[in-house]
Order: sequence, then C-alpha cells, then structure tokens
Amino acid sequence: MEFTDVLKNRVSVRKFTNEKVDENNLRLLIEQAMLAPSVANSQLWKFIAISNSDLLARMSEMVIAKYDELLEGSQAEMKARILERIKLFSSFFVDSPMVIACISEPYESVIDELAQQTGYSSEEINQFRNHPNIQTMGAAIQTLMLAAENIGYSTCWLTGPMVAKSELEEVLEIHHPDSLIAFVAIGKAAAKPSPKERKPVEEKLRIIR
Ligand SMILES: Cc1cc2nc3c(=O)[nH]c(=O)nc-3n(C[C@H](O)[C@H](O)[C@H](O)COP(=O)(O)O)c2cc1C
Repeated sequence: MEFTDVLKNRVSVRKFTNEKVDENNLRLLIEQAMLAPSVANSQLWKFIAISNSDLLARMSEMVIAKYDELLEGSQAEMKARILERIKLFSSFFVDSPMVIACISEPYESVIDELAQQTGYSSEEINQFRNHPNIQTMGAAIQTLMLAAENIGYSTCWLTGPMVAKSELEEVLEIHHPDSLIAFVAIGKAAAKPSPKERKPVEEKLRIIR
C-alpha cells in the first residue's frame, strides 16, 4: 500500500471479525515495529500477544472492577454514564481476536548514575528528560499500528485499561522494573469508522524563521 494511504486509512477500530491474527503476520508486525527509533538505541520494548479469550475476559473484568472501585461514591447517574463510556473504550478489547501488551524495560544511561550522585531519584531524572522510555514505546506502538494497516489489519491503541496496571501486570507476569505501557487491540475490522477530521495545520504549526 502507498505510505500516504496507510496513514489515511488507519483509524481506531473497536469491532473486529472472529478471524484470528496469523502468527507469522504477528511476527512480521513486531519485526517492523522494532524498526522504530529508540532512546540511545536501547530497544527497550517487549510485547506479549494475547489471544486466549478466557484471559482477555479476566483482564477486562479487572479493568471494570478497578473503575468501579475508583468511581465508588460518585453520583449514581454520573457513574452510570461514565461507566458506559468506560466499558466501550477500556474493555472492548475482550472481543478482539488479539491484544498486544506493550511493555517498557527501564531506561538507564550514564547520566542517571551521575545525577543520582547529586541526590536526584531516577524518577526525577526520567521526568527531567521527558520520559524517553514512554516516548520510545509511542514510536514502536505507532509503527506497529501502521505496519498492521499496511497488511490489512486494524488496530486500536488503549491506555484506558492501564487504571488496572498493577493487576494486569500480575496476571501477565510482567515484573518490576519492566512496566506495562499500553495495549493494542488488533484484528480484521468488522466495521471501519470513517476517519476523524483533523484540525488545520495552521492551527498547530508555528514556524520560526
Ligand atoms: C495514547 C493513546 C491512548 C488511547 N487510549 C484509548 C483507549 O483507552 N480506548 C480507546 O477506545 N481508544 C483509545 N485511543 C484511541 C483514540 O481515541 C483515537 O486515536 C482518537 O480518537 C483518534 O481517532 P483515530 O485513531 O480513528 O484517528 C488512544 C489513542 C492514543 C494515541
């Protein structure tokens, strides 16, 4: 597919057919995702591809339970409304043929060691540097999604389920210092929404000459 068509055709898809994701295709997608840039070429990404429907159901229940816990005590009507949206946006992955959990290894450089001697914690240093591990994961996730589009798969990036991050990490056996960053739901689109309109470039670009 033409690169511009890949960019234009990619939309977030939340309804998939039952068709499974072929494991050779999955390997190709991960190989292509790993062509993304990474901070200091750390390649700090890891992926877990989950197609087991019982496990997906457990994961989705954990997310719903966490939102219930978080919203306990809020006004009943508002809670019902919020929960409706949350169910759609944070747990629809339960019905997708595959979910790819995207995991970051910690990024540590020489600067960390030096800065820690001045009393800063690694969290503070990471914040100063604008979270290079998260940015690296974003690059890989977007590359994965475009690679998927290119071979006829649709995707949706999800951070909504991360409210239950620690519970999900436990069930997926992701151990500290690795950290779960996002899910990508993937499959063949049952219904592909039309692309959302983008704001004009003039509104978003400032050129300093
Ligand atoms: C960092 C990030 C997190 C997102 N999290 C969710 C999510 O939890 N659930 C969901 O349904 N969509 C999620 N999305 C998809 C966005 O809603 C979607 O990209 C946006 O509405 C634009 O639509 P498009 O992808 O079709 O162009 C996320 C997207 C990004 C980039």
